[in-house]
Amino acid sequence: MKSKQLTGLILAGLTGLTMLGMVACDGDNPIGGVALKTPNLANASSFDYEYVTMVNGTSLSVKNMILGRSFKFTNGFPGTTGNIDTDMQEAAMTFSNASAKLGRVLFYDKRMSLNNAVSCGSCHHQSLGFSDRMPVSVGFGGKVTRRNSMSINNPVSFNNLFWDSRAQSPMDLSLRPVFDHIEMGMESDEMLEKKLAATDFYGPLFQEAFGSTEITRRKVSLAMTHFVSSMVTMNSKNDKVNEGLAQFTMMEKMGHDLFFSERASCFKCHSGSNFSAPDDPGGAYGAPTVAGTANVGLDKTYADNGKGNGNFRIPSLRNIELSAPYMHDGRFGTLESVIDHYSRGIQAHPHLDANLKDDRGNPKRMNFTAEEKDALIAFLRTLTDVSFISNPKYSDPFAN
Ligand code: HEC
Ligand code: HEC
Repeated sequence: MKSKQLTGLILAGLTGLTMLGMVACDGDNPIGGVALKTPNLANASSFDYEYVTMVNGTSLSVKNMILGRSFKFTNGFPGTTGNIDTDMQEAAMTFSNASAKLGRVLFYDKRMSLNNAVSCGSCHHQSLGFSDRMPVSVGFGGKVTRRNSMSINNPVSFNNLFWDSRAQSPMDLSLRPVFDHIEMGMESDEMLEKKLAATDFYGPLFQEAFGSTEITRRKVSLAMTHFVSSMVTMNSKNDKVNEGLAQFTMMEKMGHDLFFSERASCFKCHSGSNFSAPDDPGGAYGAPTVAGTANVGLDKTYADNGKGNGNFRIPSLRNIELSAPYMHDGRFGTLESVIDHYSRGIQAHPHLDANLKDDRGNPKRMNFTAEEKDALIAFLRTLTDVSFISNPKYSDPFAN
């Protein structure tokens, strides 16, 4: 392991301890040393989770997007009978503003972890595009996760969530972190259900969302899916330029053209509206025929092989300027260092993606000039959606 990575791990570990220390001090109702709070839902009833307004003024139904994800695609064709993701279908049928509101509370509630120290929001901060600043994240006992926390943007569009594409939908993903022994460490369904039932606010929230105060793991999973699926970000400067509603500066335009050039070939993998790629797109979603993962030649041998052979999810580049550090192990602290990697740092690896090889099969050397690097970064910054990170409907109800 490189010394830089090692320092990162140690730093992450130390910060984790400090974090736990801080929470342990800030309350008067300690269970495992941590205060339990009540959410402030004063203005929550007015939040619309069902519809998202696009830059051109049309609205998009989150419920329909969830329903869309319930069709499994095979070679680009929507599945027929037997090829339906029945979990996502149920999630579409049970979607409502009330259940997404409940999902928001669950997302930010530290009761969802074994020792009340960690919520989903601990590693996914709204101001950081729902990522965190750690190279690798710190879980419930100060334990270090293997990978860099991912930003959350338009997860309902993906059939390949996580760095190794192992979750096929938000529903498939929804409770994995809760029962993960490093992330949140919850031990059983009963423990989760009992902890939530012990509060006075979840009964009414479940009643409103599902018509009964009974709390089950299934309903928790559905509500979490509803909230996470409502995290739609499509209001960046680049979206506005695409609709003719804004103009790039000269630097942004130069970066845009370079991004979409054969020489840089960024667009071959970071494709479509999310600058990413679903698995086995086969022409669906307008994506080119790449798999949803690739090996970008970070190392000659990988410590973590991702989906296999050093292939990692082609991450969405929306809100990318907010989610440093970068790559699955958070090895790059800045966008500059990511661009430097593509410019001169690609390593020969038996599974290096063809798009990053030159005519002779060697790692490509793009040799960007200083101006070209600045231009690429200027373009990447046009993918930031300020309305997404400031929208109160995604904010932490336990914050005050
Ligand atoms: C301890 C930190 C931590 C906690 C707590 C946590 N996550 Fe994550 N999250 C991560 C990391 C790290 C990854 C990448 C994991 C991987 O690839 O193996 C991730 C990935 C994700 C992704 C995938 C995004 C994508 O585009 O593929 C989503 C969605 C997500 N988390 C949602 C949640 C939800 C919902 C919760 C609470 C139930 C949660 N996370 C709790 C650290 C955390
Ligand atoms: C062969 C496919 C491919 C090409 C071509 C490609 N990327 Fe990537 N990109 C990836 C993959 C895969 C990752 C994640 C790699 C990892 O963590 O191991 C990534 C990661 C990134 C990240 C960090 C994302 C994060 O959330 O940490 C940025 C920024 C990025 N690429 C920008 C670019 C730019 C700019 C170009 C063109 C110069 C480009 N990429 C070309 C596949 C590609």
